[in-house]
Amino acid sequence: MTANDAQSQPWWKRGVIYHCYVRSFMDSNGDGVGDLPGLTSKLDVLRDGTPSSLGIEGLWLSPVYPSPNRDFGYDISDYSSIDPVYGTMEDFDRLMAGARARGIHLIMDLVVNHSSTEHPWFRQARTSRENPFHDYYLWSDGTNGKPPNNWGSTFGGSAWEWNEQTHEFYLHSFLKEQADLNWRNHRLREEIHDIMRFWMNRGVDGFRLDVANYYVKDAQLRDNAHEVVITQPMPGNPSKTLYIPMSREVYDHTVDQPETHDALREMRGVIDEKPGHMMVGEIAQRTQGQVLSYYGDGDSELNLVFNFFFFVRHFRAKDFRDIIQRTLDLLPEGAWPAWVLSNHDVVRAVSRYHCSPPMTKSMIGLLLTLKGTPFLYNGEELGLANTPLLRKLLQDPVGKRYWPLPVGRDGERTPMPWDDTANAGFTTGVPWLPVSAPAMSYSTESADPTSVLSFTRRLSWFRSHHSALNAGDMSIVAGPSDTCLCFTRTSSAEHMTITINLSDQTVAIPRGSFTSDQIPLFSTEEQPSMDSLAPWEVRIAAAPA
Ligand code: GLC
Repeated sequence: MTANDAQSQPWWKRGVIYHCYVRSFMDSNGDGVGDLPGLTSKLDVLRDGTPSSLGIEGLWLSPVYPSPNRDFGYDISDYSSIDPVYGTMEDFDRLMAGARARGIHLIMDLVVNHSSTEHPWFRQARTSRENPFHDYYLWSDGTNGKPPNNWGSTFGGSAWEWNEQTHEFYLHSFLKEQADLNWRNHRLREEIHDIMRFWMNRGVDGFRLDVANYYVKDAQLRDNAHEVVITQPMPGNPSKTLYIPMSREVYDHTVDQPETHDALREMRGVIDEKPGHMMVGEIAQRTQGQVLSYYGDGDSELNLVFNFFFFVRHFRAKDFRDIIQRTLDLLPEGAWPAWVLSNHDVVRAVSRYHCSPPMTKSMIGLLLTLKGTPFLYNGEELGLANTPLLRKLLQDPVGKRYWPLPVGRDGERTPMPWDDTANAGFTTGVPWLPVSAPAMSYSTESADPTSVLSFTRRLSWFRSHHSALNAGDMSIVAGPSDTCLCFTRTSSAEHMTITINLSDQTVAIPRGSFTSDQIPLFSTEEQPSMDSLAPWEVRIAAAPA
């Protein structure tokens, strides 16, 4: 075994991490909202030690802390307890124990660029400039009753809100109910470190850091530049382009400030106080180099950084190949990639690319065979699409404000379809968002060996048993055609070639070509042909012994 191989890999490099949007996963008490006991009741589906579960290694929970839910949990009013709508601390401990018993590692969402304005810190901070918590947030007198600069909130309007009690503006990069924390205050940083220790002591294995490149803002509050963009993906059909002249803020002074790296290095110190812990960061997209800089010198800041550049515009081998190669080239020495195609903030990949089930399998095949940690968003294993929603049913503040441009994020957040009973088995009550038409569900797909779910389980099982896939190095090689993505994965024990036909055409494998003598070990096809790849085929092969 080399240091690169499976046994010596930390869990967060080795396995699939499942992103659970708890609110929509499983409701145990009929209030229409998913909760911790509901999730606990489904743990076997996620990992039961057999090939008939998903075989995940990590489970990332969307925020389950108390929250007024202006931004559905991303506005936290208490960092050290559980919102009653999701259950109690005892429910959390039961989830933890159930996860542990199955070998699943738990990741909490840590939302510390901002807190809810209902958080006791902010309630205190806003009362007076002399209050000891005042400096936990970012304030400005403004000029002549106007905000101090042109910074805009990501969710619309100015990023500054007037606070009558102190006659100042406070900063909010998102909703006005999400006040930005002051990361230059060292007492605040200590509080955040203690919150991390609190959850680590309860057994949590890691954190997903919300908008981690937003933490520190320009000390001089200088204006951001604006650039004019004239294109926008068409809602519902993002591969088409709408031409709308609009001004877009360039977040030069509000994100990616150098001190953010210091803050992350300190947090990494806390993570490393206990072995086996990790942080994965959401870095709001700038350049790929900037995003990857949050690995530090390779392994000194975030353990993993989501690679949102993987959301290619067109579902083509060339587009995927380019971004994969660029990522591998730019990745600092010692850093491990993290791949993601769907989450609770973006249109599900199945809808983004209009995937048929075979095409979905090719996409999941890609996600689970690349070098790096794959993140699977709940429902992705079924091939779930976005649920179209009537405007009056929207809950997301972004959708409510901007519909139909964009339509908001509710479509990717609708409840999981478990079976073909009422509300797809998600709740006995009224679901907080409508359940998608139950054409597909966990139970129907479990019973169908050709389903996306059966394929995902099979591949995840195969992946976990092959060090080439879960730990090996990777090189992109020439495939049998331009529509195929072809790469090798190599550990000290194994050498495999993965060929994915990202097209609806059969592709011939020319005799004497790189892949022609390889023995298929795994395929989407029951009987893979030695002469060709079927449309959308995913094939893992090895050279003859
Ligand atoms: C992140 C979250 C998103 C939230 C935003 C503000 O992008 O993923 O859901 O709205 O941060 O906290």
